[in-house]
Amino acid sequence: GHIPVICIDGPTASGKGTVAAAVAQRLGYRFLDSGAMYRITALAALRAGLAITPEHEARIAALAQTLPVRFEGGRVWLGSDDVTEAIRTEEAGMNASRVSALPAVRGALVDLQHSFQRLPGLVADGRDMGTVIFPDAPLKVYLTASAACRAERRYKQLISKGFSASIADLRADLEARDARDSTRSVAPLKPAQDALVLDNSDLTIEQAVEKVLAWWQERQ
Ligand code: C5P
Repeated sequence: GHIPVICIDGPTASGKGTVAAAVAQRLGYRFLDSGAMYRITALAALRAGLAITPEHEARIAALAQTLPVRFEGGRVWLGSDDVTEAIRTEEAGMNASRVSALPAVRGALVDLQHSFQRLPGLVADGRDMGTVIFPDAPLKVYLTASAACRAERRYKQLISKGFSASIADLRADLEARDARDSTRSVAPLKPAQDALVLDNSDLTIEQAVEKVLAWWQERQ
């Protein structure tokens, strides 16, 4: 059978996670947060005492291959540890970016990502959903926003959670992460050839969600 997949790729803090989750909810589809898999892999490596360096590539890939990860009711589990908050820090994002540049690690996570493709459908959020993981997906969206806008959104998010942050530091961090993600040799961040690009700098989340749903409707 044919199980529909909507891919939503884009740079750091572009809003794709929020938009993808909302689209999945509206359609009653499953949701794949592929970034979380890289974040969890990085955490698992560090907890196993493995620094995230190319010399540990094979051992980190082995960890990724048997990652005891569960996504349940909005929580993320690594074995018996609830790592929902631990994987969301800026540092965890940067570690995820480092681990995700290791080709063997990417390879080790392919089957896990494919296993999310179940009826009635899937919305997949990441960097290479449309280019590598689900190349035949009927709808691929590349969701982006200006760096200034992304830094400001991340800033507001952190402040609202009671953290302190600097917009300039956040912007430097996300630009460094995007630079690494875009220039790596395997599955670099870039729009798929057949992706529809949506710049949501001047859109609300709801408007971006409606746009994706309208594109999906056109394909039915
Ligand atoms: O989307 P998120 O910020 O959670 O992703 C964390 C990191 O994981 C990204 O910066 C990127 O390096 C990596 N990633 C990836 N491929 C994906 C999803 C995330 O390389 N499909």
